[in-house]
Amino acid sequence: MSKTVTERLERYRSDGLAQVEGWFEPESAELMASLLLHQIGLGLGGGVAEIGVHHGRSFLLLANGLAPREPAVALDVFEHQEQNADHSGKGDRGRFEENLSRWAPCVAVKIVARSSLEVTPASAREVFGRPRMFSIDGGHTAEITRHDLELAQAGIADGGIVVLDDMLNGHWLGVLTGTATYLLDHPGLVPFAISPNKLYLTDSVAAATGYATHLRSAAPDLLGKRDVEFFGTTVDVYGQGAPRHNVSGPSGPAPEVRRARAAARRARREAADVAQQLAAVQASRSWRLTAPWRKVAGRLPRS
Ligand SMILES: C[S@@+](CC[C@H](N)C(=O)[O-])C[C@H]1O[C@@H](n2cnc3c(N)ncnc32)[C@H](O)[C@@H]1O
Repeated sequence: MSKTVTERLERYRSDGLAQVEGWFEPESAELMASLLLHQIGLGLGGGVAEIGVHHGRSFLLLANGLAPREPAVALDVFEHQEQNADHSGKGDRGRFEENLSRWAPCVAVKIVARSSLEVTPASAREVFGRPRMFSIDGGHTAEITRHDLELAQAGIADGGIVVLDDMLNGHWLGVLTGTATYLLDHPGLVPFAISPNKLYLTDSVAAATGYATHLRSAAPDLLGKRDVEFFGTTVDVYGQGAPRHNVSGPSGPAPEVRRARAAARRARREAADVAQQLAAVQASRSWRLTAPWRKVAGRLPRS
């Protein structure tokens, strides 16, 4: 069973991701796929949910990571874009449903067309169930971010994961502000990792340690820095500074990188030689004596 989920996740990552419009980095898709499979290995159930699906780019990864009969919930304001306070993305139910039928045809999805602000922590379980992975990517204001984190905290399964989008995106600093106020006021969710555009949290220190340990062994070449201080705890940072991005091997840069660097050094040396020769000519006595003629020649019409 788990092998089928693995295959579905791989197919969506390799073929689907590039064809579905939206905002979701392949490296984060890789880490989330690994976490979804790890949860199945732990025996965790409850399905998945996302606030803010747009055309389904990240939601479809979640949907492909489900075990049989697990539920999936997608909430978006869709055509009620007047409720999209900060114009983050633009949900389109028609495109979302087309993408669902192409990339996750066997998954029964509960589609909720409303603003997350209409859901309260008390009604979160009624709307979302108790998902084991809950993605937040709806409104990007501080108020909505904090509200959505509170919904996720109230809704997730025991040991579930919350994945928050755009926490370090300089264009959407409301998300950082909302996250900061949430984390300073509520110790309810514990952050454990960051990957391109995503922050990962869970509901206990023990679960955070377990997921962090899993990711370190599942994606060592994506791990850029361990144990970075963050709101009273530490997170591992994936993507930025990762060995996978480093062109240097154990014995220095790869041959093609060495050749390119040597060619660049040669070109710089040659350019410096030419500049030096030109400066010498310009400083010479004959250059100065012929200067008036060059000035006149410059004004003459060209034949
Ligand atoms: C950045 S996009 C989501 C991107 C998507 N997760 C992806 O993978 O490409 C934000 C989405 O949130 C929706 N949205 C904005 N404010 C919302 C709110 N208050 N409640 C629910 N959805 C909201 C928008 O309609 C839009 O589809």
